[in-house]
Amino acid sequence: MNYSMQKNKMYVTWLVAFTAILSAQVESAKILGIFWTFGRSHYLTGSTLLKALAASGHEVHVLSTFEDDANIPNFKHELLTGILCPDILNNNASVIAQITEILPMLTNNIEKFWENEAVKRLIDTKPKYDAVISLSFFNDFVLALPHYLEAPTIIYSAMSSNVINNKYVANPNLPYGENMAANAPLNTFFGRLSAASMNMFMSVMEKYILGTMQNIINRRYLPSAPPVQELTENISLVLVNSHFAIESPKPYVPNMIQIGGFHSQKNKKLPEDLQKYLDSAKDGAVLFSMGSVVKVGENIPKEQLDIIMTGLGKLAPIKVLFKSEVKIPTAPKNVLISNWLPQNDILAHPNLKVFISHGGLGSTTEAVAHGVPMLGIPFFADQKSNIASVVKTGFAIGLEHDKMTQESFDSAIRELLTNSTYTAIAKKRSSLLTKQRVKPLENAIWWVEHIIEHKGGEHLRNVGMDLEWYQLYMVDIMLFFLVLISTILIISFFITRWTLRRLINVFARGPKKVKEN
Ligand SMILES: *[C@@H]1O[C@H](CO)[C@@H](O)[C@H](O)[C@H]1NC(C)=O
Ligand SMILES: *[C@@H]1O[C@H](CO)[C@@H](O)[C@H](O)[C@H]1NC(C)=O
Repeated sequence: MNYSMQKNKMYVTWLVAFTAILSAQVESAKILGIFWTFGRSHYLTGSTLLKALAASGHEVHVLSTFEDDANIPNFKHELLTGILCPDILNNNASVIAQITEILPMLTNNIEKFWENEAVKRLIDTKPKYDAVISLSFFNDFVLALPHYLEAPTIIYSAMSSNVINNKYVANPNLPYGENMAANAPLNTFFGRLSAASMNMFMSVMEKYILGTMQNIINRRYLPSAPPVQELTENISLVLVNSHFAIESPKPYVPNMIQIGGFHSQKNKKLPEDLQKYLDSAKDGAVLFSMGSVVKVGENIPKEQLDIIMTGLGKLAPIKVLFKSEVKIPTAPKNVLISNWLPQNDILAHPNLKVFISHGGLGSTTEAVAHGVPMLGIPFFADQKSNIASVVKTGFAIGLEHDKMTQESFDSAIRELLTNSTYTAIAKKRSSLLTKQRVKPLENAIWWVEHIIEHKGGEHLRNVGMDLEWYQLYMVDIMLFFLVLISTILIISFFITRWTLRRLINVFARGPKKVKEN
């Protein structure tokens, strides 16, 4: 190789490096993540995005309510303390009792947020961030912080589009897909009525009860903070954890981006013992995991645990991996108990046949990503609607945890293991989710950089943001037409009646007149 060729090669190398830098929309931005939530799964999924942003060269600073010992360059994590978690699994309390318990808890959580040293420091030093990513879950008061820091705000929602996150970008609350409240199918009048009633209740509660409370406390800690309602109307982008492979297709406005599947995109190598265990499961394997909130020892009564253990024992020689924070002495020989299991990586193993799950959105997405049929045993929140959705799609069977019997458990799992339809549909769903033109995580990063580059999302804001709800849903227009058509009908009725009476009179009078003569 002579000198000029070498020089040329060097130029090419430089050029490639230079265009690579240019093709990224923004070089290295400063991003703040506010993850003030009591939902561990919300942090676990959302932090994947923050870490990926750090890996792609941005400087990421995260405030979160969960520990994170990730040692990644450009990724700074600060723990926020003082958050209280409502006992969502206690179904005994009446609605009134639950509300009277939850409200003081929320007050505490808002006050404790502002009292955290990390938050106080941000207020004192007012550092410059190019964007703030805020996790949304009944915590809109935190939006006062990005407003104070004058940074464009991106919402991350660990759920699909719903009445809680639609409001940020005027995405319509229409009867598509499953609704947390409505068990009735949405194509019936009563299904839509109950879904609409639930949405109205949530909106009114958020706006008037929660909003008022948040405003009062915010003003104490950050006097310049505008009302929460105003803050929610200045959101640049909403990233939702959904995709049509996981839910029923529904409409999304252009600044609400579906990134479902982003957290389960990369599989890590399994620990050696688990790899061996699953490799040796020639007849297949089953994974049992109820997520991070449902505890086997506390939330699953003994009779139900017995049903599950007996049922799993009957599956031998099929092997079972069972996540439980407590030891279970009655576990049959083919069941391996562990208090920690790398769920996504286990689901990726080809010998895994069935996933027994509570149906959290993170778990459901991982099952779809790897094409594994599910036995869903939901407990609370969106788990019922997630399971209902995948049951409808055809790769899952749902059981109600308090009505489960030995027969129903055994027959559900036998059906999933023997009827190949479930696996076929799960594989099809997997291909819908994994074979996308742009991978969801890369898509999410692109959108965050897009907002940073354009210093906000004003260009994506739709006219619905400036309309009242009755204007957005065209209630006023429909009322106008209702009144117009009714008026026309009434006027026509009176004109017709008047005309008919005249005619009848004319005809009736003829003979009368003769008589009178
Ligand atoms: C609910 O009530 C039942 C019966 O009164 C009681 O045994 C159970 O422990 C209660 N559950 C919780 C979570 O408080
Ligand atoms: C909305 O957010 C942008 C940053 O994206 C900020 O410059 C602007 O002042 C905010 N507007 C209001 C009314 O808060």
